[in-house]
Amino acid sequence: MKTRILTLTPENGEEAARIAADVLAKGGLVAFPTETVYGLGGNALDETAAERIYQAKGRPSDNPLIVHVGSIPAVRPLVKRIPRKASKLMKAFWPGPLTIIFEKSGLVPERTTGGLKTVAVRMPSHPFANLMLKTSPVPVAAPSANKSGRPSTTNAKHVIEDLNGRVDLIIDDGNAPIGVESTIIDLTGPVPVLLRPGHITKEELEAVIGPVETDRAVERESIISKQTETVRPKAPGMKYRHYAPKAPLTVVSGTEENMKAYLSSQSDKKTGILTVEERRDCFPEAFAVLTAGKKNDVLSMERELFDALREFDALPVERIYAEDLSKYGAGEAVMNRLLKAAGGTLINV
Ligand code: TXA
Ligand code: MG
Repeated sequence: MKTRILTLTPENGEEAARIAADVLAKGGLVAFPTETVYGLGGNALDETAAERIYQAKGRPSDNPLIVHVGSIPAVRPLVKRIPRKASKLMKAFWPGPLTIIFEKSGLVPERTTGGLKTVAVRMPSHPFANLMLKTSPVPVAAPSANKSGRPSTTNAKHVIEDLNGRVDLIIDDGNAPIGVESTIIDLTGPVPVLLRPGHITKEELEAVIGPVETDRAVERESIISKQTETVRPKAPGMKYRHYAPKAPLTVVSGTEENMKAYLSSQSDKKTGILTVEERRDCFPEAFAVLTAGKKNDVLSMERELFDALREFDALPVERIYAEDLSKYGAGEAVMNRLLKAAGGTLINV
């Protein structure tokens, strides 16, 4: 398949949105920017389009897709009911990086929801995504626009790497401003449950709707003890090996001095190190030192983590050590993705 690549300019947004909406209406696939990561979109109400998404990504088809909408009223036909807490969250955080799980209506095919009776819905704030979704006659199912298992894509170069020739259209709008996928909250049970940490924190959610539980499978301890097989995650996607660079990655945790001493003793010309900008020059023995943001700047870490993981793949490193970024103020979202990229391998030094 020939993939058309369309770069956004200050003038062509509306035209690009019309072109994208037209591809989607005809059952085609469009990779598009959102404020979190790039998405790989198709008509959420069309089983064949959903099937094409799974194929393009190489994704197991029991892993449900998030349905993207351009307005709050567009949620109504997709779901059985809208709980009061969902209304509050939509009012507080939409458009924005929050995905809400509802009981699905008959309109949404099980092909889209991986066989589940529930549906994940999100309204992105990215201006192009929002315009495209308002222009599109159908809601848009969109997983992150990466090959299954690889780090999510935060710019069009990475999307092209993974999906060129596998989708009809790629919309290029530079770097995604947040860089980690949306927070997911499940409102279908008696207590709200956080299924995936993201830029919107559990505390921010609790300030609006009261107590929120965290699915055990996404807690740091569960990932480190590699319990994802036994503690079945409620978001099926969280059980798969994810975000991993090609070389094996180990997270190293301790005081700043201990991490430096350990990493210096382990480093050689085959080693890559992931740290924060302030520590770039601390590891002269290593082949490459890449950074994911600055100390105590949560957003910079979110924005740069996936890029750094992908950058390692272009280098001849045989092993990668990442410093425990929580020591530098990283939030839950970054730590969750980093530990998953490491397959739960963490050593305390
Ligand atoms: O920020 C984002 O959410 C991005 C952009 C493109 O919007 N999308 C994204 O989609 O991250 P994806 O497919 O890579 O991750 C979706 C996650 C998976 O872990 C999946 O299992 C979970 O959401 N999920 C989807 N529908 C679900 C449902 N009905 N119940 C529980 N988990 C669900
Ligand atoms: Mg994904």
